Amino acid sequence: MANKRICPVERAGSLDSRLRRLVQNPHTILQPFVQEAMTVIDLGCGPGFCTLDMASLVGPLGRVIACDVQTGMLDKLQAKIQGTDLEERIILHKCDNRNIGIDEKVDFILAFYVVHELADQQSFFKEVMAILKIQGALLIIEPPLHVSRKDFDETISIGQQAGLLVEEGPRVFLSKTILMKKAGKQQDNMKTT
Ligand SMILES: C[S@@+](CC[C@H](N)C(=O)[O-])C[C@H]1O[C@@H](n2cnc3c(N)ncnc32)[C@H](O)[C@@H]1O
Repeated sequence: MANKRICPVERAGSLDSRLRRLVQNPHTILQPFVQEAMTVIDLGCGPGFCTLDMASLVGPLGRVIACDVQTGMLDKLQAKIQGTDLEERIILHKCDNRNIGIDEKVDFILAFYVVHELADQQSFFKEVMAILKIQGALLIIEPPLHVSRKDFDETISIGQQAGLLVEEGPRVFLSKTILMKKAGKQQDNMKTT
């Protein structure tokens, strides 16, 4: 797959604008999916348009792993959370271009305006399958202009081939959305002696 264009750090201001917050409110979008005490990933977090809302939703017992391939984006997010009550719930993680690089299992992954920038969607979905807990969910939100219906359907199909189940995503202003879940029965904690 050809190298994709990555949103430059100079565009961070427009990603994190008040106007966007009015039409794509992260709290409203994410509230149905992010619960207290969850461990969640904000993949391709950029300057953190959604990160603080996710941290607020997971509460003091939860954690948000904010990942980005660009150190400049993570620096902007660090500056934003520094000294706030939410700082200790947020872990910043630098991904590399083809690898999220997280070992622990998580309940939820948000990929907001990110998947069309990924260098290799096949390996992304394989990694998502490995990272998600059983019943865990991946919410993909893509922009309408950069991503055609055909490309979006292809993304969904790659996710399904990796083993994810598809559910309807939430309505998000000017966006295409899909919710993908890792199936399977949650195992009870069995005591072995
Ligand atoms: C259009 S921005 C969206 C940022 C944020 N999710 C939002 O909605 O404001 C896409 C972000 O994905 C990041 N990105 C691109 N490829 C990535 C990869 N392979 N792994 C992690 N982040 C990536 C970019 O650096 C950029 O910050």
